[in-house]
Amino acid sequence: MEQNLIVEKNKENVASMFDDIAPSYDFLNHFLSLNIDKGWRKKAVKILSSYTPKSILDVATGTGDLAIAMLKLNPEKITGIDISKEMLEVGKKKITEIGKQQIIDLQQADAENIPFAENTFNAVTVAFGVRNFEHLDKGIKEIYRVLAVNGVFLILEFSRPKNNFLGWLFKFYFGQILPLIGRLFSKNKVAYKYLFQTVQQFPSGDEMKNKLSSLGFKNVSAKTLSMGIATIYTASK
Ligand SMILES: C[S@@+](CC[C@H](N)C(=O)[O-])C[C@H]1O[C@@H](n2cnc3c(N)ncnc32)[C@H](O)[C@@H]1O
Repeated sequence: MEQNLIVEKNKENVASMFDDIAPSYDFLNHFLSLNIDKGWRKKAVKILSSYTPKSILDVATGTGDLAIAMLKLNPEKITGIDISKEMLEVGKKKITEIGKQQIIDLQQADAENIPFAENTFNAVTVAFGVRNFEHLDKGIKEIYRVLAVNGVFLILEFSRPKNNFLGWLFKFYFGQILPLIGRLFSKNKVAYKYLFQTVQQFPSGDEMKNKLSSLGFKNVSAKTLSMGIATIYTASK
């Protein structure tokens, strides 16, 4: 059953929540996931490697972890966009530290109004971002627009495990433990409760695949990770 989110999901609230948690985001992400998130991003990069994309758009790039991981693909250019200025600031610092500012360019922009021409990118990626879009369909349609014909769209997102016991464990960890630790370590007291709620209410598995197909994508497929805690969806234009 749908419950009201603890924070209303509009762009201003989402941007300001991520602005708040930006300084602790990377630490908490890796700590709370026991570094499993790094392996998931690696898997995403491996899947993309068969497409050898030259120009990549990473939507909701946040602090740039997926953008940085995609350097492995040796693309000419990676553009990362996000609505949170503070998340981007953390990302820019990391990119400067590794001297890759010529390849990775981070810009403040909205997934629902992407400031690029149609058919621009060979690959578009979103890691743990689509769940936060105010209007999911609008964001996905924009991604479709800027993706080149035959280009690949990859989403890495939490999903809900089908196994009952794992589903219970997942709910307990996400619903009870994670918000508690999040409250202790990050400036925003409700962000990690919001995370749990959005995961509970977001299209997962076949529902997400059907959405991508209905919005025009071809070759839609889903690969579950860590027994269904996360899923990588791929599709082409
Ligand atoms: C959980 S973080 C994920 C960041 C990064 N992709 C990662 O893998 O760690 C979600 C990000 O989505 C961004 N976001 C939410 N709605 C957005 C939108 N409409 N356009 C662009 N970015 C958005 C937030 O600002 C936040 O940085």
